[in-house]
Amino acid sequence: MAVEYTPAKPVVVELSAQDLRSRLYEALDVYVTAMGYPRGTEHHRAPMWTEHVTRPGWRAVGALLPTTSTAASGEIGTAASGEIATASQLVAIAYGYRGAPQQWWQTQVHAGMRKAGWGEADIRTMLANYFEVTEVHVHPDAQGHRLGETMLAKLLDGRSEERALLSTPEVSGENNRAWRLYRRLGFTDVVRNFTFAGDSRPFAVLGRRLPL
Ligand SMILES: CC(C)(COP(=O)(O)OP(=O)(O)OC[C@H]1O[C@@H](n2cnc3c(N)ncnc32)[C@H](O)[C@@H]1OP(=O)(O)O)[C@@H](O)C(=O)NCCC(=O)NCCS
Repeated sequence: MAVEYTPAKPVVVELSAQDLRSRLYEALDVYVTAMGYPRGTEHHRAPMWTEHVTRPGWRAVGALLPTTSTAASGEIGTAASGEIATASQLVAIAYGYRGAPQQWWQTQVHAGMRKAGWGEADIRTMLANYFEVTEVHVHPDAQGHRLGETMLAKLLDGRSEERALLSTPEVSGENNRAWRLYRRLGFTDVVRNFTFAGDSRPFAVLGRRLPL
């Protein structure tokens, strides 16, 4: 009888603070590779991601690809029960936390909204109670299989905040996977062509009411 080989599929799971701490460099590797940033960026980001874990309302999800190794015999697929050690590789990461007035991102977005013509009362309403989707990244080898969508849905599931906000680099014609994903999930414009202090690239701030 022919046995069909089914490649392992990544599983999207919630990651505890301890999970993220112990897989920090694996997660940062996914981030740097997905964003196409230069190697070494992960060292700058590590302290920031570590601090983010401690923020109120922090939540992370990841996609784990089972990597199964056989012990003893060395023959692929023939290990007896108990000889198989199952490990996993992190192939995608997403996290966020509850927005708060003293956070750098919120002060930047507040200024951007004011500059874009938002009234102070509307800004206060928009920023009163939101979950910031800080990072969403899928390793290029694992992209295109809706892992991004599955992670965002899990990240935002059952949240107590009124809305979700995020920022993403502007892209001509909104023509990349991130934009298609956010639009598909109903994120709408809050501020367009906004530059954060210290970064000359234009960003969009997008938001939507919760639940998804
Ligand atoms: C943006 C990113 C997180 C999206 O994750 P992803 O798993 O690749 O993408 P999605 O969850 O949107 O799903 C991908 C594909 O699933 C398919 N898909 C989506 N909905 C579908 C449906 N209902 N039925 C069938 N297929 C569907 C689509 O083909 C989609 O690809 P497309 O957007 O190119 O058309 C990921 O591509 C990434 O890490 N990109 C680089 C880093 C980045 O930009 N991060 C965000 C910075 S703000």
